Amino acid sequence: MEIKKSLENKFNTSLANLTGSPIREFDRYASSIEGIIKLTLGEPDFDTAEEVKEAAKRALDNNRTHYSVNNGIAELRTAWAKNLEKRYNLNYSPDEIIVTIGASAAIEHTISAVTNEGDTIIVVTPYFSAYEGVGILNKCNIKFIDTVDNGFKVLPSDLEKALEENKDAKAILINYPNNPSGVSYTREEVKAIADVLGKYDIFVISDEIYGDITYNYKHTSLAEFIPEQTVLISGLSKSHAMTGWRVGFIAAPLAMVRKIGVFHLFTVSGAATFIQDAAVVALNDENVDKYNKHMIETYRERKDYMVPKLRELGFEIPEIDGAFYIFAKIPAKYRDLGAMEFCKLLAKEARVGVIPGTAFGSAYNDFFRISYATSIENIKEAVERISQFMNK
Ligand SMILES: Cc1ncc(COP(=O)(O)O)c(C=O)c1O
Repeated sequence: MEIKKSLENKFNTSLANLTGSPIREFDRYASSIEGIIKLTLGEPDFDTAEEVKEAAKRALDNNRTHYSVNNGIAELRTAWAKNLEKRYNLNYSPDEIIVTIGASAAIEHTISAVTNEGDTIIVVTPYFSAYEGVGILNKCNIKFIDTVDNGFKVLPSDLEKALEENKDAKAILINYPNNPSGVSYTREEVKAIADVLGKYDIFVISDEIYGDITYNYKHTSLAEFIPEQTVLISGLSKSHAMTGWRVGFIAAPLAMVRKIGVFHLFTVSGAATFIQDAAVVALNDENVDKYNKHMIETYRERKDYMVPKLRELGFEIPEIDGAFYIFAKIPAKYRDLGAMEFCKLLAKEARVGVIPGTAFGSAYNDFFRISYATSIENIKEAVERISQFMNK
């Protein structure tokens, strides 16, 4: 159907600066190549635990099909508060939590709630594309801190420099364990970052959605050190293989939750009631916990298989602390192609789909992201194909 001609140019002008998700876009391209092995999407290849699915079915049978309390059912907010205490030593009351439609909505509500048109937000890169997208939709100035020279970790000194240069910045967004690099921060490193941030009047939006998928050390939340200025964002999508259920969380001081809750209320109103019932089981059931641990160990095996093999082939890869990604440097002989053309070549010639580094920031034209959230058979075949491509 054609749009009425006179309406064509009447949209929100910010949309002119936004195309779709660069990850999805490249995934579509890769999908068009026959026989390709896709290591593109950041989505667990596991299915959701049976206990969680059963809980959702039970909830439906019990007619849990009505509106929920806007910020989420009390049982789920309580379960999340307990989970945060147990895993990360954080002290949130259920009232300081909002159940969101995935971490994506949490990001949207938070940026919308803390910024006005023209405000500056700082984004530590490489970054998840929604930070920029939502920032643009809110007409923010976005300043990036690149970490390309420091193994994808932000140095406290670089942080301090950016905060000094942008004294009026409203918020800073940081994500660790990081998509796309898999690097994270030790307790000491988190403390050092918190020490810098704590000196500034800035909202800290800490996206810790991969906090439960770690390999080398336990995750430490920024909220442990600077809770009074932090909006902690997480959810069940990755840790519980529940991407399609759309369950995320915000945890923050009550005064922040009240403001962010307004955006939540007037955009999505609330998460689906029967899904929240299932999410309670996801957080509380011991078998689900065992299943999650099994998933992490499986990711670890895949990583431990793939990373040394790729390094042998000449790919530079940082130490991976968490999530399920490898952010590799394009080998010297192909580097001049740039990330997009290299990834297209790899897709066409090796029939392996990966994501160009530029999807995570303009500084990452020499990199590409592999997702190892796929079967070991696919991973072995992909490594074989990449090896043939490299040795051609
Ligand atoms: C860093 C990061 N934050 C947020 C999200 C979105 O999570 P959700 O599916 O819960 O909206 C993703 C998904 O890829 C992500 O990688």
